[in-house]
This record gives sequence, structure tokens and C-alpha cells, in this order.
Amino acid sequence: MTSVALAFSGGLDTTVCVPLLKEEYGYDNVVAVTVDVGQPEAEFAEARETADALGLDIHVIDATAEFASLCFDSVRANATYQGYPLGTALARPIIAKAILEVAEEQGCDAIAHGCTGKGNDQLRFETVWRGSDLDVIAPVRELGLTREWEVEYAAERNLPVEAGNEGAWSIDTNLWSRSVEGGQLEDPSHIPSEDIYDWTQTPDGSEELVEVTFEDGYPVALNGDGLSATALIEELNALAGAYGVGRTDMLEDRMLGLKVRENYEHPAATVLLTAHEALEQFVFTKTERDFKPQIDDQWAQTAYKGLVDAPLMNSLEGYLDASQEKVTGTVTVKLQGGAVRPVARESEYGVYSENAASFNTETVDGIEQADATGVAKYHGFQERLANQVAASAAAAEKPELSTDGGE
Ligand code: ARG
Repeated sequence: MTSVALAFSGGLDTTVCVPLLKEEYGYDNVVAVTVDVGQPEAEFAEARETADALGLDIHVIDATAEFASLCFDSVRANATYQGYPLGTALARPIIAKAILEVAEEQGCDAIAHGCTGKGNDQLRFETVWRGSDLDVIAPVRELGLTREWEVEYAAERNLPVEAGNEGAWSIDTNLWSRSVEGGQLEDPSHIPSEDIYDWTQTPDGSEELVEVTFEDGYPVALNGDGLSATALIEELNALAGAYGVGRTDMLEDRMLGLKVRENYEHPAATVLLTAHEALEQFVFTKTERDFKPQIDDQWAQTAYKGLVDAPLMNSLEGYLDASQEKVTGTVTVKLQGGAVRPVARESEYGVYSENAASFNTETVDGIEQADATGVAKYHGFQERLANQVAASAAAAEKPELSTDGGE
């Protein structure tokens, strides 16, 4: 008997894949796998119901803790891709690994997914699976299926896909972000209606302060309460979402080169990234602050590609481990009007001397105000000289201007 493990959500694409894997690809048995990375409960109910109706064996694997911990790694790297905090991108390798484990346990010969040939997820999944001995199958992409064809096929076959079940947009939700794309949103000039949002309220005038505590760059507590990564993200999504924090409406450059319009909601991610950066401002020297964005950018670019296990990531993590030891302290942020803003920071590692920076003190560490005079004399020396040299050279090149000058 031949078996294929299918990344299964119970939506149209993955449901249509089930008969196709049997009839077009000749597998005797399809094993459905759904991985929990913090989707809403209703999605698991839908997956189970659909699997039942199709007579499929379904495995639901809980990977929320592993996913939350990767999200916190991304906070240490201040990670966003073109402004997007990477929710879907970070989840994919974790989902792919969990499915591969089930496939191997169940003695499958292949793994299949319902991705089309246009998105990033096919690449993020397959890079994990192609490292195994299993075959990789993407029916929708390989058979060139369109949405209309799938809807018709599902109706003909009496597949358990409710008409209208698919909704007006394509939504991908996990602990870190909720993404909404497709439908009317494909037109970049279309202004989204408020009902595309689920995690964030339309902001009103109210405000709230939240204290976020970090240890070694990892968020560990909210308002002084120590929480697990998963609980902290869930609580902060609710808290900051109520103030409309964490909406992104952007054009995103996908890996294949397509530019697409994306809408995201990610209240907790926005708060944690903002607070983390505020703490780095406080505890880093200027040269550290100047350098780290290069690490951060490489981290985000690599994570966007789904390559969190790349050797480069290991090296970047080495820098993060070393630099984040002192990113320990508490940042107070204000949530208000759809925005989050740091308003206070405390850390025993702050590279900060109130005495030195204050306008009220004359002498610091034996340095007097007047000692700055010498620095001021030198400051810009090379630039001044360069401008003088350029001016004299220009004058020397244009003798006719200087002779008939008439001044
Ligand atoms: N463009 C994002 C990414 O590639 C998210 C895509 C989410 N998918 C969706 N069906 N809304 O990471």
C-alpha cells in the first residue's frame, strides 16, 4: 500500500487534493496532518469535520510552544521583512518539520501540499521536505488547477466544501500574525473595509501603559507577571489589539518576484519589537546600534525565505547570543490610537550616565565643559579643508571669471 501525508487545513485546495492524490497520483492512502501554531479553534474543527467527511485519518500536532519560541528569537533580531513581522514565514518550517515527522512515523512514501505555484509557502515547505527521502507533490501547482476548476470539481464530487466557506479573502492566522490577502485587496488602490480586521479594534481616544520585561533579549513578563512565550503573545495580542495596534497594509515582494498587496494584524509582535528596540537603544553603544541592523536584516531575509535552519542563521544567532546578554530590563510602552510608543526604560546595563548628560553639571570624570573646545576646533577639519581645496581648484580652472570680475 502506498501512502501520502497531506498538509491539511480542510479548505478548498487541500480538500480537492484528497481525491486527486488517489486518482491522479495513484496513492492508496492519504494521511491528513494539521499543525497547531496558534490558529483559532474553529480552524481545527473545520479540518476535523472535513477529514471525517472524507474518511481521512487526521493527525493534529501541537507546535505552539516551539513556534512561540521562534517568534521570540525573531524579537531578538528585531525581525521584520519590508515591515511585516514574518508570522506566516516563521510558522512554515515548523509546520513542515512536524508533517515530515508524522509522514516518516506513518511510513508514507510522499508528502503533499495544496499550495499554488505563486506563493512563498511552497518554497518554505519543500526546502524542508526535499531534505528527506520522500517524494514531494503539489497537485494544485502541478496540474495547473484554477480556483473555478476546484469549486466545480468539489461540487461534482460532492466534496465537503461548503459553498461560500472560502470567504472573500484568503486568511492565514497563527500566534504571531493574521494575514489577509486576495479578493478586492488585490487592487492596491482599494481601501480595505474595517471588516478585514479581527484582532485589532478601530482605535478610539483611550490609552494604556504596559510594562514589558526582557531577559537576554527575550520577553519574559508583562506588567511584572512572568508568562510563557505562548501566554505572553496571546495576552498581548488581546491587550494591544484593543487599541488598534499592529496593522500593516503593504506591498510585499515575494520570493518569486511577484509584488503583492498584503494586510496584516500583529499587535503583540508590534509591541514586543518596539519595546525590544527601545531597550537596545539604552544598553548598546553607538557602534553596536550602528552594526546590529545588518545582523537583523540578514536574519529577517533568511527567515522570510523559510531557511531558519540555514548555517547562516546559526552564525547570526551567535552574534545575537553575545549581544543580547545585556538586553535585560523593562520598557514601558503606551498603547494609544493604533500606535505603540516607548515612554520609559530601566536596565542595569544602560550605557547612560545622568550625571554626564545633564545640563546641570560642570565636571564629569574630571572632564570639564571647556575641554570640548579642542574637540570643537577639530570637528569637521577634513570637510572644511576639502571644501577649501575644491574652491581653490575651481577658481584656478576659470581664470576668465576672475579677470573680468568687475568687483
Ligand atoms: N505573504 C506572506 C508570506 O509569504 C503571508 C501569506 C499568507 N497567506 C494567506 N493566505 N493570507 O509570508
